[in-house]
Amino acid sequence: MPGYERLLVASSKGGVGKSTAALGLAAEFARLGKRVLLCDLDDTSRSLDLLTGCQNEALFTFADVLSGTDPERAVLTPWKDLPELRLLPAPSPGAMRRAALERETGADALIREGLDRLTAWGGFDMMVCDTGAGLDTASAAASRFPFVLVVSSQSQTSVRAAEYAASRLERCGAGTMRLCVCSFDLSAVKRENRAGVIEIIDSSSLQCAGVIPRDPRLQRYQDRGELPPRTSPVTAACRNIARRIMGYDVPLFEGMPSLYRRRRLAL
Ligand SMILES: Nc1ncnc2c1ncn2[C@@H]1O[C@H](COP(=O)(O)OP(=O)(O)O)[C@@H](O)[C@H]1O
Ligand SMILES: [Mg+2]
Repeated sequence: MPGYERLLVASSKGGVGKSTAALGLAAEFARLGKRVLLCDLDDTSRSLDLLTGCQNEALFTFADVLSGTDPERAVLTPWKDLPELRLLPAPSPGAMRRAALERETGADALIREGLDRLTAWGGFDMMVCDTGAGLDTASAAASRFPFVLVVSSQSQTSVRAAEYAASRLERCGAGTMRLCVCSFDLSAVKRENRAGVIEIIDSSSLQCAGVIPRDPRLQRYQDRGELPPRTSPVTAACRNIARRIMGYDVPLFEGMPSLYRRRRLAL
């Protein structure tokens, strides 16, 4: 998966791990030396300002960039020790619709215009865009993205929803599609007879970019606006996916010794 500069993170379902994956990937690209713009397009359940702990500094949003604010002023740097990662918060609910009414144009066209402005500004090597459930924003943005990470949980219904999302976004002009299975719970494979990784990949027509294991401590970090520590399997998984997107061959469970040890069960 070589050389993608703009990534869309999408799914038709909510609560499957899109924002977690978008933030985790953005942080890992930044740690790998890329200047990253993490752009929140989910105006109905904005979360990246909270997950990065900068909700009180979020003066400008994607909607302000659209109405002429210099992106350099609008973006935030959530963590001083990770200056390569910058965030553009999501518009407040209804802001895009109001802007569309004012300018007598469609909200979808405005999303593309905002993305084009960010690309023209060029203050990043890599843009990672988070979107909401329901695919409205993702469909509007799709044609600007050469790469889409479609996020699914471990359930078969979620994998099916990911397939639907991919086919819809493909029709809207998006490029390469890859599946990301988030919140993968190894103990549920045995306990609840849930699908392992191979079964999930096998049941899907999408190629898999990676599996992000469930980390019961993740919520605690997210509530504090912190990244999970490097020892978290979420961090290792996001790093693996980021490196695969950059074109490296990375083993499925690299940096995740507890999954690797039990790989027969996981697979
Ligand atoms: N790998 C994971 N381990 C544990 N909890 C997770 C994981 N991924 C996501 N979650 C939790 O699932 C919930 C939904 O995640 P989120 O990323 O906000 O989903 P979405 O953006 O698709 O709505 C959050 O409470 C988050 O903490
Ligand atoms: Mg989200």
